[in-house]
Amino acid sequence: MASRQFIFFLLLSVLAMGSSLAGAATGPGNIAVFWGRNASEGTLREACDTGTYNTILISFLTGFGGGAYSSSYSLDISGHPLAGIGDDIKHCQSKGILVLLSIGGPTSTSGNYSLPTPQSAAALASHLWHTYLAGGGVSSNSGDSTPRPFGDAVLDGVDFYVDHAGDNERYDELARRLHSYSGVMTTATVRCAYPEQPSTAALATGLFARVHVRMYGGDLRCEWGQFDSWNKWAAAYPASKVFVGVVASPEADKDAYLFQKDLYYGILQFAEKVPNYGGLMIWDRYYDKINHYISSS
Ligand SMILES: *[C@@H]1O[C@H](CO)[C@@H](O)[C@H](O)[C@H]1NC(C)=O
Ligand SMILES: *[C@@H]1O[C@H](CO)[C@@H](O)[C@H](O)[C@H]1NC(C)=O
Repeated sequence: MASRQFIFFLLLSVLAMGSSLAGAATGPGNIAVFWGRNASEGTLREACDTGTYNTILISFLTGFGGGAYSSSYSLDISGHPLAGIGDDIKHCQSKGILVLLSIGGPTSTSGNYSLPTPQSAAALASHLWHTYLAGGGVSSNSGDSTPRPFGDAVLDGVDFYVDHAGDNERYDELARRLHSYSGVMTTATVRCAYPEQPSTAALATGLFARVHVRMYGGDLRCEWGQFDSWNKWAAAYPASKVFVGVVASPEADKDAYLFQKDLYYGILQFAEKVPNYGGLMIWDRYYDKINHYISSS
């Protein structure tokens, strides 16, 4: 077979799979993607213009907490220039795409976060509200104006990606505080094995619209073949929409990577039957772009 034909064949297969994943009546539902882990992934606007995703998780706010009244926060979006992101957020939202900020991140990411006290949770909630949400830039703590990295764009909510936490950390308090402001959606991104300690108290608040379950990442207690872990999450949080989180390329996790047909016929066929199935969570935009896993561009 001529190589050009072969590439064409591959392209057709990917397009066919992409459209069956994205378009079928009983398709995967929502498609959420992490954006912000590699500047080579392109802009937020480009991600939204693929038409593939309906939720973007900007990742990550990697540094927060650590003391009673921490005032040091760090946003790490892998060198993406901040200029223009606010406009891109509005552009995405104008297409009906939700844009959330994910806080925390994998332990391997150079983050340093903890919420050891109710005060640190309250301070973070206030920071998020004034810096990224509808709080308009004035911190209630200090009265000082808070710089808004995305300008006057208002994010739709906050994703809790808490990969490590001590016994008494206060992510539950953070969730309650965020909900005391109006119109803030909260979601959680958890490890596959159920239950996992870092998110248990927060999820017990019942305030999470969505739970994204990472079916990758070297969690040895999580076995794909059984699919048990995902079902446990779905059964444990019937009031949340539960997502199947996958890597979009073998480069991200070669052991956990699933070919599209295995994802569709091996996993989604079953997951979709669960009443609170929410959709797919893709790690991440960069890998999806290079591998054309879900998006075709
Ligand atoms: C980002 O993408 C480039 C290629 O475009 C790659 O060399 C680099 O390792 C990636 N960085 C991360 C953190 O994955
Ligand atoms: C993380 O932050 C705490 C306090 O804010 C500090 O004591 C600790 O050394 C930091 N750890 C790293 C790895 O930066």
